[in-house]
Amino acid sequence: MQTEMFEVDPLSDNRKLYVRAAEALAAGALVGIPTETVYGLGADALNPEAVARVFEAKGRPSFDPLILHVHHGKEVDKYTAIPEELKELVHTLASKFWPGPLTMVLPKADIIPDIVTSGLPTVAVRVSAHPAMRGVAKALGRPVAAPSANTSGRPSCTTAADVMGDMEGKIDAVVDGGPCQVGVESTILDLTCTPPRLLRPGGLPLEALEEVVGPVAVDKAVTGRLKDGEQPKAPGMKYRHYAPKAPVTVVTGPAEASARTILQMVKPGDGVICFDEFAELFKEQEVECLGPSQDKRIQAQRVFDALRAFDSKDAAQIYAQCPDSQGLGLAISNRLKKAAGFKTIAAGQKRVV
Ligand code: TXA
Ligand code: MG
Repeated sequence: MQTEMFEVDPLSDNRKLYVRAAEALAAGALVGIPTETVYGLGADALNPEAVARVFEAKGRPSFDPLILHVHHGKEVDKYTAIPEELKELVHTLASKFWPGPLTMVLPKADIIPDIVTSGLPTVAVRVSAHPAMRGVAKALGRPVAAPSANTSGRPSCTTAADVMGDMEGKIDAVVDGGPCQVGVESTILDLTCTPPRLLRPGGLPLEALEEVVGPVAVDKAVTGRLKDGEQPKAPGMKYRHYAPKAPVTVVTGPAEASARTILQMVKPGDGVICFDEFAELFKEQEVECLGPSQDKRIQAQRVFDALRAFDSKDAAQIYAQCPDSQGLGLAISNRLKKAAGFKTIAAGQKRVV
């Protein structure tokens, strides 16, 4: 199969292009579509055969459900069965954070095929802030089911070129909307339990959510490796993910201290993911910069690129500096720690925790 590239024109409304992509989806095709977080691999959510091909193209396990992308918050009622007592909270969250990097897990409506939710009674839904994802969903007139567009287990794609790298020949088209502004995936909040539970930290900081919903429980899978037999509430949080080929070790703590600790451990030819200020310390290593230590917005944009870059390098070991957990730091450090299989060292100590 030849994968076509559809170029978004930043100076036009791109309506024709979105209609073209929607027509392809309506015919059962798979299309890579940008969102503000990462690129999605879209299919018509109401077409179970097309959705099955998403799992196939990604090599994604069938137990790991997909996110529904709708073009407007008012669409959510059609595809979910929100209990009366939750309606006000869902409405408040939608009006505050959509369009944007928040995914809500809600009881599903019967119209959603079981393959989308991997048989779960709930469905994950969001309204992306990217005009392309919203434009295509609107032109389709149905939700777009879209996981991140990477091959399962690889870092998520933040450019159309990344999507081509993983999916060329396996999908029908990619809409090229330029690099993603946020760079890490959406924050997933499960509203079917009390208190609501953070299943995955992402582009919307936990602190912003808690200002609106009060205290939020944080799923164990967010902060540590699960024991054998333990199940995360978001099935996709289970397996090692975002992983480059070489083993990764994350070093936590203040930036200068973690840089010093890495310097003591690295060997020539190892890889280092570090904040910009420390790059020149690692003269004999392959270095990928994560951005300035004080700028988590840039770190979020860079984190998957930095991990992906090591796929074409021969580093034996990769060491990564890691921001604190405030704001976007929770999502950035979660992605790095998942790439490391949660192999983490505190700066100043050499003990792996
Ligand atoms: O930013 C994003 O969320 C991107 C863009 C494309 O929208 N999408 C994305 O999808 O990251 P994916 O498939 O890579 O991650 C979705 C996560 C998985 O961990 C999955 O297990 C979880 O959401 N999920 C989906 N439906 C769920 C449900 N009903 N209950 C719990 N977790 C769910
Ligand atoms: Mg993913």
